[in-house]
Formats: sequence, C-alpha cells, structure tokens
Amino acid sequence: MNALLLEILAWYEWLRALHIISFVAWMAGLFYLPRLFVYHAQVKPGSDASETFKVMERKLLRIIMNPAMIATWVFGLTMLAARPDLLGHGWFHVKLFAVVLLTIVHMVFARWRRAFAEDRNTRDHRFYRIANEIPTILLIVIVIMGVVEPF
Ligand code: HEM
Repeated sequence: MNALLLEILAWYEWLRALHIISFVAWMAGLFYLPRLFVYHAQVKPGSDASETFKVMERKLLRIIMNPAMIATWVFGLTMLAARPDLLGHGWFHVKLFAVVLLTIVHMVFARWRRAFAEDRNTRDHRFYRIANEIPTILLIVIVIMGVVEPF
C-alpha cells in the first residue's frame, strides 16, 4: 500500500468525524430549505416577507448547504480511497445510490430556489410539503446502510 493511503488510514477516525459533521449540516439544510419554500409559496411575490425568504434561502444554500455537500463528498471519497474493499458490499452500493439521489435532490432544490428568487414559482405549498419528505426517506436509507450494513 502506498504512503498516501497509509496516511489516510492513520487519520481515518478524524475523517469519519468530519464526514458526520458535514452530512449533519447538509441534511439540516435539506430539511430547512423546502420548509422555507412552504412558507414562501404562501406569500405574495414582491411582498416584504417574500424578499426576506429570498435572502434566507440564498444564504442557506450558499453558506451552509453547498459547502456541506462538497465536504461530505470529499471526506467520504477520501475514506473510500483508503478502503476500496467497501465497494465489494451490496449495502455500500445502495448507500452510494441514495447519496447520488440526495445530490440530485439538492440540485433540484437549488433550481426551485432560483425560481422563487426570480418570482417565477408556480407551485403551491402542498407540493413543497411533499418534497420536504424526500430527504428524510433518503437519510433513513443511507444511515441504515452505513451503520447496520445489512447485506
Ligand atoms: C457523498 C458521498 C459519500 C461517500 C463516498 C461516503 C463514504 C463513506 C465511508 C467510506 C464511510 C466509512 C465507512 C466505514 O468505515 O465503515 C462513511 C461513513 C458514514 N457515512 Fe458516508 N459517504 C457519503 C455520504 C454520506 C451521507 C450523505 C450520509 C448521511 C446522510 C452518510 C452517512 C454516513 C455515516 C452515518 C457513516 C458512519 C458509519 C459508521 O461509523 O459506522 N454518508 N461514509
């Protein structure tokens, strides 16, 4: 094994801690952003409340969610580089598939945020209430795969 991989293994527990901190921050944003959309969809475009939601949504995405998503991927892939054996397990494939779906959900939320920012939203609050449940379902799958490793 080369020196870089040995070095990563020496820091493995730290990487895992940083990975957990990053995905908790990412998930917090994935829960909160569609919640803001639920409230935003109930106010008039151009109102003071609408302009306040725009600022909250932009800051949440740019300051918390984008960096947390990148950090989750970087720490996760760094650990994987030192533990390629994980790719031999079915649970890891399911976890990675769910993480890719979560990343797509993040991108879709970012598009919806842009539509709100440009006063182009046409969906009502019930739509966003349903969208709000998707990250929860993916989180349950990802954590069960990563912790229970069922197959
Ligand atoms: C972005 C791509 C991701 C990759 C490449 C990745 C990869 C990894 C790796 C290699 C480990 C260490 C596994 C071990 O040592 O047994 C790990 C741990 C973990 N990951 Fe991820 N992960 C990713 C995203 C996520 C996400 C989005 C979540 C949660 C929403 C998550 C939840 C966890 C948990 C809870 C652990 C700790 C498991 C334990 O310590 O028993 N991961 N991840």
